[in-house]
Amino acid sequence: MVRSLFFACTYIFIYGNSVWASVSTEAIRQRMEWVRENAEPALIPIQGEPLNVSLALDLSAIREVDISRGEVEILAVRNIGWKNPSFSWLENESLYKKNGDNNIHSFSMDIKNLWTPDIVAFNAVHAPELLSPPIANVAADGAIFYAPNERIRFRCKLGSFESTEGTNCTLKYGSWTYHGLLIHLTANKNDFTKWNYEEDERFDLLGTYVESETKYYPCCTEPYPDVKFILNIRKKS
Ligand SMILES: *[C@@H]1O[C@H](CO)[C@@H](O)[C@H](O)[C@H]1NC(C)=O
Ligand SMILES: *[C@@H]1O[C@H](CO)[C@@H](O)[C@H](O)[C@H]1NC(C)=O
Ligand SMILES: *[C@@H]1O[C@H](CO)[C@@H](O)[C@H](O)[C@H]1NC(C)=O
Repeated sequence: MVRSLFFACTYIFIYGNSVWASVSTEAIRQRMEWVRENAEPALIPIQGEPLNVSLALDLSAIREVDISRGEVEILAVRNIGWKNPSFSWLENESLYKKNGDNNIHSFSMDIKNLWTPDIVAFNAVHAPELLSPPIANVAADGAIFYAPNERIRFRCKLGSFESTEGTNCTLKYGSWTYHGLLIHLTANKNDFTKWNYEEDERFDLLGTYVESETKYYPCCTEPYPDVKFILNIRKKS
């Protein structure tokens, strides 16, 4: 079963420290209205400094390794997190009472209502196929998490795929239109996980790595950050 661990945690987060029965549709509707009133889906929520956008990948399957075309296809949940402080309802007494016991800590919302970062895989061979609903989670402090489950096909040189060390295939992500002074893309060393990975009879997954890089181009003074998710794969002998 492919399900983002994030959503499982959110569930406990919402219901774990409040009384089940106190969460009503009406209470969620009020927070949703509050967020809608403050949402500008076309506008990046920056306030002076770059917007921090975190990126993580949870690999669930390697579907295909096409040596002749130099293409690999995987299934993975991409966890994207950012914050829009104007969504926070922590300071609104009618929506959140400090020390109150029926506060709502987060709810789910269709991403069409929200601005979402345009993070794309630069070496994909076609648009990712979305396998999950286009729904994000909005938390009381304005933090937003969106975790699309995707089928991704990307280019990789597979020359050493049949060797003992296997080959490193790199999936490179970055913002399509925002440079590093607007979006600060971040990923930690351990953010390429395999919580839902299913072993494959055809391939060995020898390791996963994350590398971040900031590039400067001759044209411009702005930094261009990217995040690389690296899979070390080998043909099973
Ligand atoms: C608190 O939220 C409610 C519901 O969205 C809104 O009507 C009200 O104006 C807000 N109060 C303040 C002080 O922003
Ligand atoms: C982004 O993250 C950096 C480092 O953690 C932090 O110093 C900065 O305040 C954050 N920026 C925003 C807008 O939250
Ligand atoms: C794959 O990449 C990792 C991380 O950069 C590196 O440590 C490892 O040696 C590479 N393996 C191969 C076979 O290139």
